[in-house]
Amino acid sequence: MKVMVIGGGGREHAIIKKLKESPLITELYALPGNGGIAEDAVCVNIGAKDIEKQVEFATKNGIDYAVVAPDDPLVLGAVDALIAAGIPCFGPDKKAAIIEGSKVFSKNLMKKYGIPTAEYEVFDNAEAALSYLETAPIPTVVKADGLALGKGVIIANTRDEARDAVRSIMEEKKFGESGAKIVIEEFLTGPEVSVLSFTDGKTLVPMVSSMDHKRALDGDNGLNTGGMGTIAPNPYYTDEIAKECMEKIFIPTVNAMNAEGRTFKGCLYFGLMLTEKGPKVIEYNCRFGDPETQVVLPLLDSDLFTVMQAVTNGTLDKTEVKFKNENAACVVMASKGYPQKYESGFELKIDPSVKDSVYVAGAKKDNGKLLTAGGRVLGVTATADTLENAINSAYEKVGKVEFENAFYRKDIGARALKAKEKK
Ligand code: AMP
Ligand code: GLY
Repeated sequence: MKVMVIGGGGREHAIIKKLKESPLITELYALPGNGGIAEDAVCVNIGAKDIEKQVEFATKNGIDYAVVAPDDPLVLGAVDALIAAGIPCFGPDKKAAIIEGSKVFSKNLMKKYGIPTAEYEVFDNAEAALSYLETAPIPTVVKADGLALGKGVIIANTRDEARDAVRSIMEEKKFGESGAKIVIEEFLTGPEVSVLSFTDGKTLVPMVSSMDHKRALDGDNGLNTGGMGTIAPNPYYTDEIAKECMEKIFIPTVNAMNAEGRTFKGCLYFGLMLTEKGPKVIEYNCRFGDPETQVVLPLLDSDLFTVMQAVTNGTLDKTEVKFKNENAACVVMASKGYPQKYESGFELKIDPSVKDSVYVAGAKKDNGKLLTAGGRVLGVTATADTLENAINSAYEKVGKVEFENAFYRKDIGARALKAKEKK
């Protein structure tokens, strides 16, 4: 079968490496992919948001199946367009992708169906939001309604910070139309857990849990980033909590989307916070997480393509989805300065012994050389019998990847290890 994957980051590289293991796939394409992905798939220079060209490429080249990985094309309706052209897809249609595309939608959905989440108010004008902030509990969280490259959430520790957030989103339109509406919500505390799941709209199968490390610097300091590393499974996510999440959050979400006429098929991502009052939803994503995928898929013991097809065909209940009883750690290597200003264009040297463990996020091919091309350059993943061994092995492998100005956190998984010790 000929399969194409839309997207071009570390997540897509992890999906492609896993799909490559499938005996059912004969040809793999990435649109647009990147210089590192080019080692594992044929990269086609069509952007992740260029839906028209994606459909044209798929029809002209006899593509049998498409995986739409990033949020933008999903929210824009790439799956609808591909399906209309007769190409089966992995990923939700536009109607269902709104669960990530609009925070106002997802908050209202949770309220309507009693799914635990932070208390919130919705505003469509700055004046009302500012007036609400006069008496709102502080800290508070201000969120742009729409997609904002992962930057649309501002945790305000003072009333002034909260006012600034409202002004920058609604008046200065920092995120364009994504900020036409905002959600102001209760600040929650507790360990965070990411749970990705496969769902065909009837059955939901959670994948192994994981933990992201969003801050740029060691000790969870510095600016928020797209993610500096991940580990799986997440030690805070016990069997008991998993059961509670299944009953109170996962299944109710699938049912709620069905009741709204927005059946969700694909990877539904639950960003959870384990609060003193139980697990609550911080966010939904309509897709695989990045860099969670880089630890979750290496632990998948079933054929990813078979599982994806089962999601598309509505036969997930009859399909085995197994995970290895192991641990995984992924350390992201970024360009110095990320998430702010950084330089690119440095040669990337990956020792052949660790090539299989490297998921490239930002690199391009130039005269046969691989050059850095992005803030987050790559992720290095290791799996092992224990979390400690996985972390140590990932850092050992990091030592076998070189590029000028490389920067990475030295404490990925440290908090998870501590949590394990306490048990
Ligand atoms: P998001 O961009 O939705 O992933 O949010 C970014 C981060 O903001 C999350 O991973 C949380 O750490 C934090 N966050 C979002 N909402 C809340 C909340 N209500 N209370 C506390 N932290 C939050
Ligand atoms: N790692 C968080 C996300 O993919 O949105």
